Amino acid sequence: MERGRPAFGPPGDAEEQAAVADIMAQAFAMPLADSTAWVEKAGLANLRVLREKGTVTATALPIPMGQWFGGRRVAMAGIGGVGVAPSARGAGAATRLMQHTLQELRSLGFPLSVLYPATQPLYRRAGYEQAGARFEIRVQAHRLDFNERTLQVRPVSPADLPAVQELYRRYASTRQGYLDRGPYVWDRVFHPRSETAYGYVVEGAQGLEGYVWLVRRRKVDLLQEIFLTDYVVSTPTAARRLLRFLGDHRSLAQEVVWTGGPMDPLLLLLREQTYQVKLLFHWMMRVLDVPAALESRGYPAGVSGTLHLHVEDDLFPENRGTFTLEVSGGTGHVQRGGGGLMSLDVRALAPLYTGFLTPEALRSVGALVADDATVRLAATLFSGASPALPDMF
Ligand SMILES: CC(C)(COP(=O)(O)OP(=O)(O)OC[C@H]1O[C@@H](n2cnc3c(N)ncnc32)[C@H](O)[C@@H]1OP(=O)(O)O)[C@@H](O)C(=O)NCCC(=O)NCCS
Repeated sequence: MERGRPAFGPPGDAEEQAAVADIMAQAFAMPLADSTAWVEKAGLANLRVLREKGTVTATALPIPMGQWFGGRRVAMAGIGGVGVAPSARGAGAATRLMQHTLQELRSLGFPLSVLYPATQPLYRRAGYEQAGARFEIRVQAHRLDFNERTLQVRPVSPADLPAVQELYRRYASTRQGYLDRGPYVWDRVFHPRSETAYGYVVEGAQGLEGYVWLVRRRKVDLLQEIFLTDYVVSTPTAARRLLRFLGDHRSLAQEVVWTGGPMDPLLLLLREQTYQVKLLFHWMMRVLDVPAALESRGYPAGVSGTLHLHVEDDLFPENRGTFTLEVSGGTGHVQRGGGGLMSLDVRALAPLYTGFLTPEALRSVGALVADDATVRLAATLFSGASPALPDMF
């Protein structure tokens, strides 16, 4: 307990709220006015602070959402805004903050947590490991010369939002690792920090077939870059119409930029490879609840088998020991016990779970121990597209 308050919890008063804004301003080199606005937007009840010797030394923002794996939504808590007061750094504050945060998230029933790391050892110590990627896709605007105008593109109206979010949900549910966005991430699509995003929809006779939110960034002289905070197209015609619409910016816009997986399907429509794809980040995942995580994701239909796991976890004793994962009909059932034929730390379970690394690859660097037959079975159960997510949080 600190001054009658627990060592960990939401900021208790205006003084602690100001301390969070100060830590954020210094951690992320942003003006105090911006970090104060961020704290207000995040909401006091959602923020978490660590109190040491009567002062707030560290802060984090858990963000409730979901993530799609094997066509099913798994509850996931994103972590953003991890910061430690400069004078309190290097003394384990961030490590303690993460332990408290993970304990709370597990007790709330989140099987997974995901974050973008500024440094990996801190998060590895808390049980996270690399589990997917975020790429930047940069396309030359003058090569988007598609002759497709049969569908209408018009500015979005508030009445379109339910259909927009439904288009996203249907698209994201088929993509390995995409978010079931909560309000926090949707807000970053519609209102990116210090920029203005404009939304447009692609409309056909039966309703919306796509949408895009874009920011126009001024570069040298009058030249521009068009950054998409989000787009979805649900038909091939809408895909070509969207590219035409983006190409219509080419008098001043040199490049159109967005984020996503290693191979965006839109790139297949381009005549030449007039684009660049660059890795921005590998995101990290923490499996908080081994049985719940394994049971809530989907598995390839038509595949069946029983995988025997032996898991180590420094933080959560409930995750330790042997489990069997029995997969059939696209669903997994977990029971305690079994032969423990595949031995791994909970950290290595994250890239196995998402399909970021094959069991063979994990074994080759010593992240798991298993015989060949077990490795082959696990490779089948956890196969799927390369996990990616376009959103930053
Ligand atoms: C990164 C940060 C949160 C670490 O806080 P901290 O309380 O000093 O961290 P801890 O003392 O718990 O250290 C945990 C591990 O993190 C790593 N770490 C700590 N400070 C680091 C730094 N400045 N740079 C790189 N790695 C660092 C170290 O591996 C450390 O373990 P070690 O001391 O055994 O090597 C803090 O330096 C900070 O607020 N930085 C600016 C904002 C930021 O980067 N936030 C993270 C966003 S994901």
